[in-house]
Amino acid sequence: MSYFRPNVDKAKGYEPGFQPRQTDVVKLNTNENPYPPSPQALKALAEISAEQLRRYPDPLGQSFREAAAHVNGVAAENIMCCNGGDDLLRIAFTAFCDESRPVAYPVPTYSLYPVLVNLQNCSAIEIPFDSEFNLPAKLAGTGAALTIVCNPNAPTGSFISVNELASLAEELNGILLIDEAYVDFAEENCTALVKDFDNVIILRSMSKGYCLAGLRFGYGIAQKDLITGLMKVKDSYNVDAVATTVATAAMQDRQYFEQNIEKVKKERKRLTERLRAMGFEVLNSSANFVLAETKDCKANEIYDKLVQRNIYVRYFDSPGLSDKLRISVGTEEQNDKLLGALKKNLNRE
Ligand SMILES: Cc1ncc(COP(=O)(O)O)c(C=O)c1O
Repeated sequence: MSYFRPNVDKAKGYEPGFQPRQTDVVKLNTNENPYPPSPQALKALAEISAEQLRRYPDPLGQSFREAAAHVNGVAAENIMCCNGGDDLLRIAFTAFCDESRPVAYPVPTYSLYPVLVNLQNCSAIEIPFDSEFNLPAKLAGTGAALTIVCNPNAPTGSFISVNELASLAEELNGILLIDEAYVDFAEENCTALVKDFDNVIILRSMSKGYCLAGLRFGYGIAQKDLITGLMKVKDSYNVDAVATTVATAAMQDRQYFEQNIEKVKKERKRLTERLRAMGFEVLNSSANFVLAETKDCKANEIYDKLVQRNIYVRYFDSPGLSDKLRISVGTEEQNDKLLGALKKNLNRE
């Protein structure tokens, strides 16, 4: 007999990517930004006062809401702070889904969604992408209470245009949550849809574009009524005083952010070209990772050989993602180490 609810009992729980303990590894397996956070964010961290820690934090993270509103051209009331983008996903499942209110999303996609399906005990309508990862037409007609589109998609890096997502928002009767955790590396984003649609929620993360995965900070953008409803579901103090202060400073440092994004995009282009020159098939990516495969060697064999050289990437072998390697874009030096190791193992240029 189990003490747990049956759905929790049978749920597997999220399996986070491997986090090696050593620091002298080339870690390209969990899509962190390879560069340090903004110096302004580090300064704000160093200046945290004892008083800020003694008191409860601002439950709404108002300083961050204002900074993010300014950057996104919306009002502070359209922003909700979260303990990482994952917190917003959990809040959305709790707010919109139950046994009679399903969630729908295209697959393959972010592996946290099915975990939340099991925990919330709702049903999932999973619609397969075609081989080019276009938006599946069937997604508009599922009748789901919550539809999630990850854009850029993980782990493919593929991108669906804002116009297509606007049409989807128009057609749906339920909520459209656009998971833009990686959008800082793409050429456009869906912020403008929030003005036109009362059923759109946009998820953003400070983990990737702002180099703050360890901080745990993300946010949602939506019309005021949706934000007010979502606030009812969040933990009372879901963002702490340190995280709010540091995330606010990072959001305000636009110059550092823009330079960082350009560096990652430049390396993404170089990594993609070099991998293709070695015979890998690499999808065009709008994120800070690339999805690669080669017909000449099994992805898991390459993965094992890279691990022997202390280089970590992510290996997939699941429906829609068979025999694939997902490689986070590293620094120039990290990418060179990876490319050098691949060259030795595959005997290629
Ligand atoms: C697609 C996607 N959405 C959301 C998140 C959540 O990011 P975080 O909780 O670090 O802000 C991640 C993290 O890897 C992700 O890959």
